[in-house]
Amino acid sequence: MKAIHVESDEPGRPMVWRETADPVPGPGEVLVDVYAAALNRADLLQRAGGYPAPPGASTILGLDIAGQVSQLGQGVTGRKVGERVCALLAGGGYAERAVVPEGMLMPIPGGWSFEEAAALPEAYLTAFTNLFLEAEFQPGETLLVHGGASGVGTALIQLAKAAEGRVIATAGSVEKAGLCRALGADLAVNYREEDFVARTRTFGEENGVDVNVIIDMVGADTFQHNLSLLGARGRMVFIATLSGAQVALNLGELMSRRLRLIGSVLRARSLAEKVEITRRFMERFWPMLEAGTIRPVIDSVYPIEQVEDAHRRMAANLNMGKIALKIR
Ligand SMILES: NC(=O)c1ccc[n+]([C@@H]2O[C@H](COP(=O)([O-])OP(=O)(O)OC[C@H]3O[C@@H](n4cnc5c(N)ncnc54)[C@H](OP(=O)(O)O)[C@@H]3O)[C@@H](O)[C@H]2O)c1
Repeated sequence: MKAIHVESDEPGRPMVWRETADPVPGPGEVLVDVYAAALNRADLLQRAGGYPAPPGASTILGLDIAGQVSQLGQGVTGRKVGERVCALLAGGGYAERAVVPEGMLMPIPGGWSFEEAAALPEAYLTAFTNLFLEAEFQPGETLLVHGGASGVGTALIQLAKAAEGRVIATAGSVEKAGLCRALGADLAVNYREEDFVARTRTFGEENGVDVNVIIDMVGADTFQHNLSLLGARGRMVFIATLSGAQVALNLGELMSRRLRLIGSVLRARSLAEKVEITRRFMERFWPMLEAGTIRPVIDSVYPIEQVEDAHRRMAANLNMGKIALKIR
């Protein structure tokens, strides 16, 4: 098969689409012919050498795939050759074939393209894990999400609204804020032109609500603002530190409002935990995926040969929703 190789000895670490050995499904795994993959920030970090694949995982970039089952490993009983599936991988997605543990496979809702299906796993499983399993978001609560137009941000807005919550989103342009609103955000603030702290406070006063949950990918730049906005018993989950990871914390603030700060990563979790997350996500949201009320936002689709352009678009923060790669 062909796969993307990062030429790590060359300047700029170019990505080259070239021949490599096919992966072989072990017991409990299936081989998937990959039709589409999707980009994640993690791919940019891994390419730069800063985020290696976990032990035992493929070192090929790519965490999101969609395609057709082409071979069943020993002991796989619940899948058929030819079935359309998508999955979160620990690595190996930018390739014509990928091996997936059976429990990580999700069916593709009717009418979805492979590109849409590839945009589902990482963004929605991350959103689901952090919003519901870590932050225990409840109906009627208010979520504040930064990077609202990102892959994860768009998924968070959709899931929080589907769970009958209120959403305040921040984003870095008028167009991005517009997308957040179109996805159901009750308030969307372009933080480059408006003071999101003041807008959030006014929204809270007008609606008689506190911010209950913050899912934060920004880190240092938003930390003090986030802390000041969280209401009593608020939960803040850190999923990335795009602006830096060092902050000063007044423990008194945590204690007086009984706040909880939670750090969370998905990729390093055990397979058993990821299978359970996938199962619980499907149990709760499959009806809405099938009905089309939850559907990934596709920013753009690049042929795999143009993966460098796709990475440049994400690195420049231009994408609204997910960038997909067409593999066949
Ligand atoms: N912990 C986990 O389990 C987990 C899992 C998946 C993803 N993640 C992380 O979640 C984040 C979102 O992932 P994604 O794939 O959805 O990314 P994405 O689509 O590339 O979106 C990231 C967005 O963050 C904003 N941003 C970038 N740099 C920033 C900075 N210095 N300060 C403030 N905002 C900045 C930009 O939006 P604006 O233009 O609106 O500012 C950018 O578009 C990534 O950092 C990723 O690594 C974590």
